[in-house]
Amino acid sequence: MYLTEEEQRMLNGDYGQGTQLAMEILAAIGEAYDAPKMVPVTRTHVALSNQEADLWFAEKLANGGAKCRVRPTVNPSFNLKQFQEITTVEKEDEETVMRTHAAYNKLGAIMTYDCTPYLEKNVPRFGEIISFSESSATPFVNSVYGARTNRESAQSALCSAVTGVTPYYGYLLKENRAGQVLVHVEADMEDDFAYQMLGYFAPKKIGFDIPVFEGLKNPSKEALMNLGAQLNTGGNVALYHILGFTPEALTMEEAFQGKAPQHEVVITDDDLKAMREEISDKKGKIDFALYGCPHFTIDQVSTVADLVNGKKLAVPLFIMTSSLTRSLAQKMGYMDIIRAAGGEIVEDTCMDQPCWKFLYGKKGITDSPKCAYYTKRRDMQFVIAPLKDSVIAALKGEY
Ligand code: F3S
Repeated sequence: MYLTEEEQRMLNGDYGQGTQLAMEILAAIGEAYDAPKMVPVTRTHVALSNQEADLWFAEKLANGGAKCRVRPTVNPSFNLKQFQEITTVEKEDEETVMRTHAAYNKLGAIMTYDCTPYLEKNVPRFGEIISFSESSATPFVNSVYGARTNRESAQSALCSAVTGVTPYYGYLLKENRAGQVLVHVEADMEDDFAYQMLGYFAPKKIGFDIPVFEGLKNPSKEALMNLGAQLNTGGNVALYHILGFTPEALTMEEAFQGKAPQHEVVITDDDLKAMREEISDKKGKIDFALYGCPHFTIDQVSTVADLVNGKKLAVPLFIMTSSLTRSLAQKMGYMDIIRAAGGEIVEDTCMDQPCWKFLYGKKGITDSPKCAYYTKRRDMQFVIAPLKDSVIAALKGEY
């Protein structure tokens, strides 16, 4: 693999052990994928996970003197201050949060703690070569903006942030971005929730192929967030196209780059209904409601506020969002409405974190299959339902 003089210097250790390790890892990935060279990246996002392995790696780079050349935004861990008010945070968990913060800060990351950076603070343009990890973020930046990233891990994206480059292979090349399977969506895509189910179900029919969806009409940004997050949870789809809508698929010719689809599939309402029945817990009493996987937008927060305005929730309701959206919700009065009803908006927090221990063993409701999928290992069960229905259920304590 060809390396420039500067890249070779990084590999030789001229910039310290941390940068050397980052370049060694990227060079190894490049060799594995037959990349001919490295290319510069202009943006990075690291799916910081606030877990042991993530911390070990970030500290190794930081203690080796690494500094990010292309400063990444980062995923949420959990908001220590807020959760110390909500519950008892164990000493060990508190230490992990603080050490993770210190390590990433030392590396020069931008401490956004947000899993939807593509909406607010790290928005790429068409064709921009970037290095993004986070399963809901990569499909959005690739598909909706037409930026170019591979499906990076937290570690490979951090290595790119440190070195400023990424191996040139995969989705960075135009020819690898062509659609492979034509997906006829015959389901009635009536709301954003339908996109959650479409995203979770589609990989069962398409495998690892790049889908071109036909039959989707002007999805909202929330629908697109949902679709990408679930495509990359129910499967490994980091790039999709929507015919006549996403920038690399305005025509069939463009979407498939002049070739015929390798195969075609049909997805119906029955498929989505069966998928929901398979992954959702049974109806009945619920103990809490949890939203924001991916982090809620201000429009989603306002939907919840409208539904609970002047009412009392029967069970606790939590919304996870970015610090910017939470601050907007405060300014716009949504926070007061949700709190008066017995709910809470938490910032900088992911649901796959130990701060939710007080909910382990309980049954919740959510609109996100991704939320339900990741929390299984934490002994949380979820009924999965459309946002409005689930908030109404939280008001009653039952679905
Ligand atoms: Fe965000 Fe955590 Fe879900 S990072 S998308 S809340 S798994």
